[in-house]
Amino acid sequence: MIAVGSDHGGYELKEAVKRLLMERGIPVEDLGTDNGNSVDYPDFGEKVARKVSSGEAEKGILACGTGIGMSIVANKFPGVRAALVADPYMAKMAKEHNNANILVLGGRVLDENEAREMVAAWLDTAFEGGRHQGRLDKIAVLEMELYK
Ligand code: RB5
Repeated sequence: MIAVGSDHGGYELKEAVKRLLMERGIPVEDLGTDNGNSVDYPDFGEKVARKVSSGEAEKGILACGTGIGMSIVANKFPGVRAALVADPYMAKMAKEHNNANILVLGGRVLDENEAREMVAAWLDTAFEGGRHQGRLDKIAVLEMELYK
């Protein structure tokens, strides 16, 4: 299951991403927002990041105007590796090297087709492991030290 969320700045893009996930037959949990009215991105970033951090959701996708606010919020949560990406190459690398479990997109930066390409690149790429796993292990050690 992929949990998705946005603020008003990412709402339209979230809806487009949902359509792509549904076309692919991927179960989606939409944690809001539900329209274009102004809301605060931390409230929705938190909902998705909690689901991923707890393991309730395998992955998440977040969108706000730029993606910056959502990535700041999501990366506070232990075990979350949220990647704000700007093109399909970054989306591919976010999985291949960083094993990002939350993809973050900017609704005021990307059009629907760009976002679909980026989500597809992230979903269709495998984590390479090896030396990259060692680097993720170092992040996990840091989290244990910082959040104990
Ligand atoms: C909302 O206006 C905007 O600040 C928000 O969507 C996001 O871009 C924050 O990083």
